[in-house]
Amino acid sequence: MKEKLVVLTGAGISAESGLKTFRDADGLWEGHRIEDVATPEAWQRNKQLVLDFYNERRRQLLQVKPNPAHFALVDFEKHFHVNIITQNVDDLHERAGSSNVLHLHGELRKARSTRNYKYVIDFDGDMSDSNRDDQNHPLRPHIVWFGEAVPELPNAANIIAEADVVFIVGTSMQVYPAASLIDYAPPHAQVHYIDLNPAEVRHIRRKISIHSGKAAEILPALFQKFTS
Ligand code: APR
Repeated sequence: MKEKLVVLTGAGISAESGLKTFRDADGLWEGHRIEDVATPEAWQRNKQLVLDFYNERRRQLLQVKPNPAHFALVDFEKHFHVNIITQNVDDLHERAGSSNVLHLHGELRKARSTRNYKYVIDFDGDMSDSNRDDQNHPLRPHIVWFGEAVPELPNAANIIAEADVVFIVGTSMQVYPAASLIDYAPPHAQVHYIDLNPAEVRHIRRKISIHSGKAAEILPALFQKFTS
């Protein structure tokens, strides 16, 4: 039976595709206050600002492609049972061809009803105040905002609890509850942290192997190492 590889990904894995990360210099939040564009209060206060922010990000996403880091994780499926748990709202893992992708923080190319959280549809255009669900309630971006519950968290915790190997890729591990998922990995699991600037992750209370550099270079090299 194949060993289980669980990969926790963050914005850094998509950096080489041309999408900005959040907390690096010149990061996505730099031009915006989180409170203005990514909270339920922001949505109540100024829907158009929130819609504009996500419309712009959706347009950018449609112009970029998966990079060698995303493709390397597809290659790992030849040797491992791979589950990806991503904090990213892009769909680059799916476009690369990964089979099992769980989105903790929602998906940019989907919209959901403001009244019925189960009503979720594909959405690729610009979203406006006039977009409605089948009951004529307004749609909103299918994004988990700061201050909202993370509905996929229990599923993610169950997945990582089964891991033999864990990769943490391109995330500053500063946002909870996503960052706490590593605590669910079993003690025997090997943990590898792959990040351009892994300095932030000292708080992880277990032995980890740190790989400092670009995910698009390190993941293909790790694939060779694991499979040679
Ligand atoms: N390869 C690997 N890592 C990289 C690369 C790269 N090419 N470029 C940047 N990084 C690393 C940075 O060093 C940083 O540790 O990616 C990480 C990005 O961290 P953040 O910008 O904080 O993004 P992330 O951890 O995904 O943010 C988590 O916070 O803003 C919210 O909901 C949003 O899902 C997001 C969550």
